[in-house]
Amino acid sequence: MAPVQIAPGVYDVGVTDWNIRDFHGYSTDLGTTYNAFLVVDEKIALIDSVKKEFADQLLDNIAAVVDPRKIDFVVSNHTEPDHTGSLARVMHRVGEETPLICSKMGHKNLPRHFSQKWNYRPVGSGEELKLGKRTLVFLETRMVHWPDSMFSFLKEDGILFSSDGFGQHYAGPEKFDDEVGERIMAHAKKYFANILLLYTPLIEKLIQQVLGLKLDIRMICPDHGVIWRKDPGKIIAAYQRWCRQEPEKKAVVIYDTMWKSTQKMAEAIHAGILGEGVKSMPLSLRGWHRSELMTELFDARAVVVGSPTLNNGLYPSLADFLCYMKGLKPKNKIGAAFGSYGWSGEAVKLLEAELTQMGIPLIQPGLKIQFVPEKQQVESCREFGRQIGLAVKADSPA
Ligand code: FEO
Repeated sequence: MAPVQIAPGVYDVGVTDWNIRDFHGYSTDLGTTYNAFLVVDEKIALIDSVKKEFADQLLDNIAAVVDPRKIDFVVSNHTEPDHTGSLARVMHRVGEETPLICSKMGHKNLPRHFSQKWNYRPVGSGEELKLGKRTLVFLETRMVHWPDSMFSFLKEDGILFSSDGFGQHYAGPEKFDDEVGERIMAHAKKYFANILLLYTPLIEKLIQQVLGLKLDIRMICPDHGVIWRKDPGKIIAAYQRWCRQEPEKKAVVIYDTMWKSTQKMAEAIHAGILGEGVKSMPLSLRGWHRSELMTELFDARAVVVGSPTLNNGLYPSLADFLCYMKGLKPKNKIGAAFGSYGWSGEAVKLLEAELTQMGIPLIQPGLKIQFVPEKQQVESCREFGRQIGLAVKADSPA
């Protein structure tokens, strides 16, 4: 990707990772981008860098705009290696003595990734850096997405460089939200559900703080995906809504199956839920990646999990998914568990224990069926589903 001028004197010099399909456990079916920005004024600032393997491309992009040795400041908004992996190459090219601006936590964390004695300039919220006609203002944004995260705001242009915040794992020919259209929101939602969900209480407060500053935000430049230029308020409002985690009248039935008995149960439970007029999705772990499941679960009220018993335990795919889900701490859910078994049948109890540990109340006792469900047992699965549908309706807006 060649550099793109996104505003007068402001360039995206980042790169596109077209072929990545697994971003530390998140399915990136369309790839992603690592955005980095160059602000050219009397002084020149580079904001963020990119993954290590894209260092040459980043340096080429910078060189297409300015000689990298003319960069006066390097800003690191976030220490995670997708934004700092190429920092050593960048600093070497720009000049090892160049001031490296980061948050106070960044100042603690960056030296634990890099042994070089760089000219660190830690900044706190509200501190400013004059570039000439323009000014960068820094805002600490802890846990969006690491303790070191911060935003940089180019005051005179109203451009917020938001690091991971408001990002999407999306790679395409487009650079801006309006070029992609409404479908970009699904990517932003998946990103929120899988990367930021755990931090919603902090994000909610942070957005309040940022809104309280009454910044004139005209463009939001995240480090992943497209830039929000058409209506930056739209993604801020979506974050406020997503932070509330208000569920829809919806259930997800997440399962795996060994000999299709648990699948048969899942399909009958799904039919029972649907029969109550509640949106339902039967989602097999054979076909659905954990991060896609998390996105569907994010706005569901009921989480119904099904597993066969294997070696006195859970099916491994369920254990994987529940571990992932537990870490993200979804709120405002109710749950239920089911599964088929051969002779010992521990899986359903184990599923219930996992849901309970996550603070998800059980709608009803779990349902387990030995070997292959018979006609009457299929009907009991439907009834199980109906009870879930009724529970979802009971606390959903009409
Ligand atoms: Fe895109 Fe938390 O790094």
